[in-house]
Amino acid sequence: MAAPDRYAVFGHPVGHSRSPRIHARFAELTGQLIAYEAIDVPPGDFEAALEGFLATGGKGLNITVPHKLAAFDAADVLTPRAQHAGAVNTLALQAQGLLGDNTDGAGLLRDLQHNLGIELAGQRILLVGAGGAARGVLGPLLDAGPASVLIANRSPGRAAELAARFASDGPVSGVALEGARDAFDLVVNATSASLSGEVPALNTRIIGAHTFCYDLAYGAGPTAFLRWADAHGAKGVADGLGMLVEQAAESFELWRGMRPPTAQVLGELRDAMMRP
Ligand code: ATR
Repeated sequence: MAAPDRYAVFGHPVGHSRSPRIHARFAELTGQLIAYEAIDVPPGDFEAALEGFLATGGKGLNITVPHKLAAFDAADVLTPRAQHAGAVNTLALQAQGLLGDNTDGAGLLRDLQHNLGIELAGQRILLVGAGGAARGVLGPLLDAGPASVLIANRSPGRAAELAARFASDGPVSGVALEGARDAFDLVVNATSASLSGEVPALNTRIIGAHTFCYDLAYGAGPTAFLRWADAHGAKGVADGLGMLVEQAAESFELWRGMRPPTAQVLGELRDAMMRP
């Protein structure tokens, strides 16, 4: 029997990564023979680790913190969406060399529009945060045709810079956190505040009866931001577990040429996380 094609996620830390489990289930459910592991790659070791992985028959990688910029630099060819995001979360060994892609934004859009049934066209969107995560999802959000995207960030200069970078893609502007003062249709938290259980210092007026709140972060229960949004009357809330599964599905499709059943895997993952 042929050896399975090898894939992995590179990150640091990476022990908590759910990607091996997600891709193992995708492979089972689609009948693909692959091996997928999590590899801890300390900062500065990315190039050597990549070389070693490819030299031993590796076919593709997911890339997570802190290596998305190193992966961007290492790719021979970039997809337009990776170019635009300025970061790579998926590498695929192809005939023309190492292809760098970014499936994060597509994963978010698929979760919002397909899984959660949220309309984006013509809507007023507030994107909270202006770091790598916000930059990765801004292009796809603008492509969905919203009425406007306002970026609010603790450091207002970064919000303005990010808005300027994407100015030709749609109606986007940047302000300080307190500069967002009225209710939005959709609020996307792309800060890393949830990872330390914090909530960005936002005005509660950003939430109205029609406001849906989404956090790119996820955990066993609702994040601090989602609890805050719920307490202030948001119409609905969702964490980023769906985005995680959907971005993985986009990577799997790039590598294997077929789309895995994400709803089933998301359900299984959610059940496993709720278990004590
Ligand atoms: P990532 O790749 O996760 O986006 P990053 O590039 O370091 O990480 O960006 C982190 C983002 O979370 C930034 O927008 C940061 O705000 P600043 O630019 O002002 O630093 C934001 N952030 C982190 N902790 C926060 C907190 N407690 N309140 C508000 N914003 C926070």
